[in-house]
Amino acid sequence: MKPMEVTATAHPNIALVKYWGKRDAALKLPAMPSLAVTLDGFVTRTTLRWGARKDRVFLDGVEAAPGAAKRVLDLLDRFDPGRPPCEVESRNDFPTAAGLASSSSAFAALALAAATASGRGLSLEALSVLARTGSGSACRSLHGGFTLWRMGVRPDGSDCHAIPVEAHPDLDLRVLVAVVDEGPKALSSTEGMHRTALSSPCYPAFVESGEPLVRCAAEAIGKGDLLGLLTFMERSTRLMLSAMWCSEPAVRYLKPRSLALIDEIEAARGEGLACGWTLDAGPNVKALCDAPSAEALASRIRRHGVRVHVLGVGGPARVEVPLARP
Ligand code: DP6
Repeated sequence: MKPMEVTATAHPNIALVKYWGKRDAALKLPAMPSLAVTLDGFVTRTTLRWGARKDRVFLDGVEAAPGAAKRVLDLLDRFDPGRPPCEVESRNDFPTAAGLASSSSAFAALALAAATASGRGLSLEALSVLARTGSGSACRSLHGGFTLWRMGVRPDGSDCHAIPVEAHPDLDLRVLVAVVDEGPKALSSTEGMHRTALSSPCYPAFVESGEPLVRCAAEAIGKGDLLGLLTFMERSTRLMLSAMWCSEPAVRYLKPRSLALIDEIEAARGEGLACGWTLDAGPNVKALCDAPSAEALASRIRRHGVRVHVLGVGGPARVEVPLARP
Protein backbone atom coordinates (compact mmCIF):
# COMPACT_ATOMS: atom_id res chain seq x y z
CA MET A 1 0.00 0.00 0.00
CA LYS A 2 1.31 3.44 -0.94
CA PRO A 3 1.53 5.59 2.21
CA MET A 4 -0.77 8.58 2.29
CA GLU A 5 0.81 11.66 3.85
CA VAL A 6 -1.31 14.51 5.19
CA THR A 7 -0.41 17.59 7.25
CA ALA A 8 -3.06 19.26 9.38
CA THR A 9 -2.83 22.34 11.56
CA ALA A 10 -4.89 23.45 14.55
CA HIS A 11 -4.79 26.28 17.08
CA PRO A 12 -5.14 25.76 20.82
CA ASN A 13 -8.21 27.10 22.58
CA ILE A 14 -8.56 28.75 25.97
CA ALA A 15 -11.62 28.02 28.08
CA LEU A 16 -13.65 31.04 29.17
CA VAL A 17 -16.10 28.81 31.06
CA LYS A 18 -14.10 25.87 32.32
CA TYR A 19 -14.12 22.09 31.91
CA TRP A 20 -12.59 20.38 34.94
CA GLY A 21 -14.04 16.93 35.63
CA LYS A 22 -15.52 13.99 33.76
CA ARG A 23 -18.65 11.90 33.98
CA ASP A 24 -16.95 9.14 31.94
CA ALA A 25 -13.15 9.00 32.07
CA ALA A 26 -12.66 6.42 29.28
CA LEU A 27 -14.77 8.35 26.75
CA LYS A 28 -13.67 11.75 28.12
CA LEU A 29 -17.24 12.90 28.63
CA PRO A 30 -17.30 16.08 30.72
CA ALA A 31 -19.35 16.62 33.89
CA MET A 32 -20.21 20.15 32.71
CA PRO A 33 -20.49 22.10 29.44
CA SER A 34 -17.75 24.61 28.65
CA LEU A 35 -17.07 27.52 26.35
CA ALA A 36 -13.78 28.57 24.74
CA VAL A 37 -12.06 30.81 22.26
CA THR A 38 -9.61 29.51 19.66
CA LEU A 39 -6.34 31.46 19.52
CA ASP A 40 -4.43 32.59 16.48
CA GLY A 41 -0.65 32.86 16.68
CA PHE A 42 0.01 29.51 18.38
CA VAL A 43 -0.21 26.47 16.12
CA THR A 44 0.29 22.70 16.13
CA ARG A 45 1.34 21.19 12.79
CA THR A 46 0.89 17.41 12.51
CA THR A 47 2.02 15.22 9.63
CA LEU A 48 0.58 11.71 9.44
CA ARG A 49 1.84 8.94 7.15
CA TRP A 50 -0.99 6.45 6.89
CA GLY A 51 0.63 3.16 5.78
CA ALA A 52 4.20 3.58 7.09
CA ARG A 53 6.68 0.73 7.83
CA LYS A 54 5.82 0.75 11.54
CA ASP A 55 4.09 2.89 14.16
CA ARG A 56 6.30 5.82 15.22
CA VAL A 57 5.48 9.11 16.93
CA PHE A 58 7.71 12.21 17.01
CA LEU A 59 6.83 15.23 19.13
CA ASP A 60 8.73 18.45 18.51
CA GLY A 61 11.40 16.55 16.59
CA VAL A 62 12.16 13.77 19.09
CA GLU A 63 10.73 10.28 19.38
CA ALA A 64 7.87 10.45 21.89
CA ALA A 65 8.08 8.72 25.29
CA PRO A 66 5.98 5.51 25.39
CA GLY A 67 3.08 7.09 27.33
CA ALA A 68 2.74 10.06 24.98
CA ALA A 69 3.09 7.84 21.89
CA LYS A 70 0.38 5.52 23.21
CA ARG A 71 -2.09 8.41 23.60
CA VAL A 72 -1.54 9.31 19.94
CA LEU A 73 -1.72 5.73 18.64
CA ASP A 74 -4.78 4.96 20.79
CA LEU A 75 -6.68 7.72 19.01
CA LEU A 76 -5.76 6.24 15.64
CA ASP A 77 -6.89 2.77 16.85
CA ARG A 78 -10.22 4.15 18.04
CA PHE A 79 -10.68 5.80 14.67
CA ASP A 80 -9.84 2.62 12.74
CA PRO A 81 -9.08 -0.60 14.63
CA GLY A 82 -7.85 -2.20 11.37
CA ARG A 83 -5.59 0.70 10.42
CA PRO A 84 -2.15 0.26 8.79
CA PRO A 85 1.03 1.29 10.70
CA CYS A 86 1.32 5.07 10.95
CA GLU A 87 4.07 7.63 11.44
CA VAL A 88 3.10 10.84 13.22
CA GLU A 89 5.22 13.97 13.47
CA SER A 90 3.76 16.79 15.50
CA ARG A 91 5.30 20.17 16.29
CA ASN A 92 4.07 23.03 18.46
CA ASP A 93 5.41 26.54 17.94
CA PHE A 94 4.68 27.21 21.65
CA PRO A 95 5.49 25.42 24.96
CA THR A 96 3.99 21.94 25.35
CA ALA A 97 2.09 20.69 28.47
CA ALA A 98 2.58 24.01 30.28
CA GLY A 99 -1.08 24.90 30.70
CA LEU A 100 -1.13 26.59 27.29
CA ALA A 101 -3.66 24.12 25.88
CA SER A 102 -1.17 22.25 23.70
CA SER A 103 -3.20 19.03 23.92
CA SER A 104 -6.24 20.83 22.49
CA SER A 105 -4.53 21.74 19.23
CA ALA A 106 -2.53 18.48 19.11
CA PHE A 107 -5.51 16.12 19.14
CA ALA A 108 -7.61 18.35 16.89
CA ALA A 109 -4.84 18.33 14.25
CA LEU A 110 -4.35 14.57 14.67
CA ALA A 111 -8.06 13.78 14.27
CA LEU A 112 -8.26 15.88 11.10
CA ALA A 113 -5.05 14.34 9.69
CA ALA A 114 -6.31 10.79 10.39
CA ALA A 115 -9.71 11.35 8.78
CA THR A 116 -8.09 12.92 5.72
CA ALA A 117 -5.18 10.48 5.28
CA SER A 118 -7.45 7.43 5.61
CA GLY A 119 -9.64 8.81 2.84
CA ARG A 120 -12.70 8.76 5.09
CA GLY A 121 -14.17 12.19 5.34
CA LEU A 122 -15.80 12.88 8.72
CA SER A 123 -18.33 15.56 9.55
CA LEU A 124 -17.11 18.39 11.77
CA GLU A 125 -19.17 16.90 14.64
CA ALA A 126 -17.58 13.46 14.18
CA LEU A 127 -14.10 15.03 14.02
CA SER A 128 -14.84 16.92 17.23
CA VAL A 129 -15.97 13.68 18.92
CA LEU A 130 -12.79 11.89 17.77
CA ALA A 131 -10.52 14.72 18.97
CA ARG A 132 -12.35 14.69 22.33
CA THR A 133 -11.34 11.07 22.92
CA GLY A 134 -7.67 12.18 22.77
CA SER A 135 -8.06 15.18 25.08
CA GLY A 136 -11.42 16.63 26.10
CA SER A 137 -10.61 20.25 25.30
CA ALA A 138 -9.41 19.25 21.79
CA CYS A 139 -13.03 18.91 20.61
CA ARG A 140 -13.22 22.72 20.74
CA SER A 141 -10.17 23.32 18.47
CA LEU A 142 -11.71 21.97 15.26
CA HIS A 143 -13.65 25.22 15.11
CA GLY A 144 -12.35 28.74 14.91
CA GLY A 145 -13.79 31.60 16.93
CA PHE A 146 -15.89 30.87 20.01
CA THR A 147 -17.08 27.34 20.73
CA LEU A 148 -19.41 25.64 23.14
CA TRP A 149 -18.67 22.04 24.13
CA ARG A 150 -22.07 20.51 24.79
CA MET A 151 -22.36 17.62 27.20
CA GLY A 152 -24.71 15.53 25.06
CA VAL A 153 -26.92 12.76 26.45
CA ARG A 154 -25.95 9.62 24.52
CA PRO A 155 -23.94 7.11 26.60
CA ASP A 156 -21.49 6.53 23.70
CA GLY A 157 -20.64 10.26 23.57
CA SER A 158 -21.57 10.62 19.89
CA ASP A 159 -23.46 13.87 20.62
CA CYS A 160 -20.80 15.26 22.98
CA HIS A 161 -18.90 17.68 20.77
CA ALA A 162 -18.25 21.37 20.24
CA ILE A 163 -20.46 23.72 18.27
CA PRO A 164 -19.62 27.25 17.12
CA VAL A 165 -20.97 30.28 19.00
CA GLU A 166 -21.82 33.28 16.86
CA ALA A 167 -20.01 36.42 18.03
CA HIS A 168 -21.19 40.00 17.66
CA PRO A 169 -19.14 41.61 14.85
CA ASP A 170 -17.97 44.40 17.20
CA LEU A 171 -16.39 41.97 19.68
CA ASP A 172 -12.73 42.52 18.82
CA LEU A 173 -10.97 40.42 21.43
CA ARG A 174 -7.30 39.99 22.27
CA VAL A 175 -5.84 37.27 24.47
CA LEU A 176 -2.56 38.09 26.22
CA VAL A 177 -0.68 35.00 27.30
CA ALA A 178 1.76 35.85 30.10
CA VAL A 179 4.36 33.10 30.40
CA VAL A 180 5.17 32.73 34.10
CA ASP A 181 6.74 29.29 33.62
CA GLU A 182 6.93 27.37 30.36
CA GLY A 183 8.13 24.07 31.83
CA PRO A 184 5.78 21.06 31.69
CA LYS A 185 3.39 20.85 34.62
CA ALA A 186 4.00 18.32 37.39
CA LEU A 187 0.39 17.11 37.49
CA SER A 188 -1.49 16.48 34.24
CA SER A 189 -4.98 17.94 33.72
CA THR A 190 -6.40 14.42 33.52
CA GLU A 191 -5.00 13.49 36.96
CA GLY A 192 -5.69 16.90 38.49
CA MET A 193 -9.36 16.91 37.52
CA HIS A 194 -9.78 13.30 38.64
CA ARG A 195 -8.39 14.17 42.07
CA THR A 196 -10.59 17.27 42.29
CA ALA A 197 -13.74 15.32 41.41
CA LEU A 198 -12.92 12.62 43.96
CA SER A 199 -11.85 14.74 46.92
CA SER A 200 -12.87 18.40 46.69
CA PRO A 201 -15.93 19.53 48.68
CA CYS A 202 -16.05 22.59 46.37
CA TYR A 203 -16.33 20.46 43.21
CA PRO A 204 -20.17 20.21 43.22
CA ALA A 205 -20.47 24.03 43.31
CA PHE A 206 -18.11 24.28 40.32
CA VAL A 207 -20.05 21.61 38.38
CA GLU A 208 -23.37 23.35 39.07
CA SER A 209 -22.02 26.67 37.83
CA GLY A 210 -21.16 25.28 34.37
CA GLU A 211 -24.53 25.31 32.64
CA PRO A 212 -25.70 28.81 33.71
CA LEU A 213 -22.27 30.35 33.11
CA VAL A 214 -22.03 28.85 29.62
CA ARG A 215 -25.49 30.23 28.82
CA CYS A 216 -24.64 33.72 30.12
CA ALA A 217 -21.22 33.77 28.40
CA ALA A 218 -22.69 32.66 25.04
CA GLU A 219 -25.30 35.43 25.34
CA ALA A 220 -22.61 38.01 26.14
CA ILE A 221 -20.57 36.90 23.10
CA GLY A 222 -23.66 37.24 20.86
CA LYS A 223 -24.37 40.73 22.19
CA GLY A 224 -20.73 41.85 22.06
CA ASP A 225 -20.85 42.46 25.82
CA LEU A 226 -17.15 42.13 26.68
CA LEU A 227 -17.45 43.21 30.33
CA GLY A 228 -20.21 40.66 30.89
CA LEU A 229 -18.09 37.94 29.27
CA LEU A 230 -15.09 38.84 31.48
CA THR A 231 -17.26 38.63 34.60
CA PHE A 232 -18.50 35.13 33.71
CA MET A 233 -14.99 34.00 32.75
CA GLU A 234 -13.46 35.14 36.05
CA ARG A 235 -16.30 33.57 38.04
CA SER A 236 -15.81 30.21 36.30
CA THR A 237 -12.03 30.46 36.79
CA ARG A 238 -12.33 31.25 40.52
CA LEU A 239 -14.76 28.38 41.03
CA MET A 240 -12.39 25.99 39.22
CA LEU A 241 -9.36 27.22 41.19
CA SER A 242 -11.29 26.92 44.48
CA ALA A 243 -12.30 23.37 43.63
CA MET A 244 -8.65 22.56 42.80
CA TRP A 245 -7.36 24.05 46.07
CA CYS A 246 -9.87 22.13 48.20
CA SER A 247 -8.73 18.80 46.72
CA GLU A 248 -6.81 16.37 48.88
CA PRO A 249 -3.89 16.82 48.41
CA ALA A 250 -4.40 20.29 46.92
CA VAL A 251 -4.17 20.71 43.15
CA ARG A 252 -2.23 23.95 42.88
CA TYR A 253 -0.67 25.30 39.70
CA LEU A 254 -0.48 28.97 40.74
CA LYS A 255 2.85 30.67 41.47
CA PRO A 256 3.36 33.95 43.38
CA ARG A 257 3.92 35.74 40.09
CA SER A 258 0.56 34.46 38.77
CA LEU A 259 -1.13 36.26 41.68
CA ALA A 260 0.88 39.43 41.05
CA LEU A 261 -0.35 39.41 37.45
CA ILE A 262 -3.96 38.97 38.57
CA ASP A 263 -3.49 42.05 40.79
CA GLU A 264 -2.01 43.97 37.86
CA ILE A 265 -4.89 43.07 35.50
CA GLU A 266 -7.48 43.99 38.13
CA ALA A 267 -5.68 47.31 38.79
CA ALA A 268 -5.68 48.04 35.04
CA ARG A 269 -9.41 47.36 34.96
CA GLY A 270 -9.87 49.71 37.92
CA GLU A 271 -8.15 52.37 35.82
CA GLY A 272 -10.55 51.89 32.93
CA LEU A 273 -9.06 49.17 30.67
CA ALA A 274 -11.63 46.58 29.54
CA CYS A 275 -9.80 43.45 30.68
CA GLY A 276 -10.06 40.31 32.79
CA TRP A 277 -7.93 37.29 33.70
CA THR A 278 -8.05 33.54 33.58
CA LEU A 279 -5.78 30.57 34.32
CA ASP A 280 -5.89 26.90 33.41
CA ALA A 281 -3.88 23.91 34.59
CA GLY A 282 -0.66 25.90 34.94
CA PRO A 283 0.80 29.12 36.37
CA ASN A 284 0.55 31.08 33.12
CA VAL A 285 -1.97 33.91 33.20
CA LYS A 286 -4.16 34.82 30.25
CA ALA A 287 -5.66 38.29 30.07
CA LEU A 288 -8.61 39.02 27.81
CA CYS A 289 -9.22 42.55 26.64
CA ASP A 290 -10.52 44.61 23.76
CA ALA A 291 -8.12 45.41 20.91
CA PRO A 292 -7.48 49.06 21.92
CA SER A 293 -6.40 48.01 25.45
CA ALA A 294 -4.01 45.25 24.34
CA GLU A 295 -0.70 47.11 24.05
CA ALA A 296 -1.14 49.12 27.26
CA LEU A 297 -2.06 45.97 29.18
CA ALA A 298 0.81 43.96 27.66
CA SER A 299 3.37 46.57 28.73
CA ARG A 300 1.98 46.64 32.29
CA ILE A 301 2.28 42.84 32.44
CA ARG A 302 5.82 42.86 30.94
CA ARG A 303 6.98 45.07 33.83
CA HIS A 304 6.68 41.92 35.98
CA GLY A 305 9.51 40.33 33.97
CA VAL A 306 7.37 37.88 31.99
CA ARG A 307 7.10 37.26 28.26
CA VAL A 308 3.70 38.21 26.83
CA HIS A 309 2.16 36.90 23.60
CA VAL A 310 -0.59 39.11 22.20
CA LEU A 311 -2.97 36.85 20.29
CA GLY A 312 -6.24 37.28 18.45
CA VAL A 313 -9.11 34.93 17.75
CA GLY A 314 -8.00 32.00 15.59
CA GLY A 315 -9.55 30.06 12.72
CA PRO A 316 -10.51 26.39 12.43
CA ALA A 317 -8.26 23.34 12.03
CA ARG A 318 -7.15 22.88 8.44
CA VAL A 319 -5.52 20.42 6.07
CA GLU A 320 -2.42 21.87 4.42
CA VAL A 321 -2.46 21.51 0.68
CA PRO A 322 0.97 20.23 -0.45
CA LEU A 323 2.81 22.46 -2.93
CA ALA A 324 2.74 20.96 -6.40
CA ARG A 325 6.16 19.60 -7.43
CA PRO A 326 7.53 21.03 -10.67
C1 DP6 B 1 -8.07 23.67 32.76
O1 DP6 B 1 -8.63 18.74 27.99
O2 DP6 B 1 -6.30 18.83 28.95
O3 DP6 B 1 -7.69 23.69 30.42
O4 DP6 B 1 -9.67 15.78 28.82
O5 DP6 B 1 -8.15 14.91 30.60
O6 DP6 B 1 -7.22 15.53 28.36
P1 DP6 B 1 -8.28 15.80 29.40
O7 DP6 B 1 -8.01 17.29 29.94
P2 DP6 B 1 -7.76 18.65 29.17
O8 DP6 B 1 -8.25 19.68 30.30
C2 DP6 B 1 -8.31 21.05 30.09
C3 DP6 B 1 -8.68 21.72 31.37
C4 DP6 B 1 -8.58 23.23 31.39
C5 DP6 B 1 -9.95 23.88 31.21
C6 DP6 B 1 -10.55 23.79 29.84
O9 DP6 B 1 -9.81 23.76 28.83
O10 DP6 B 1 -11.79 23.84 29.76
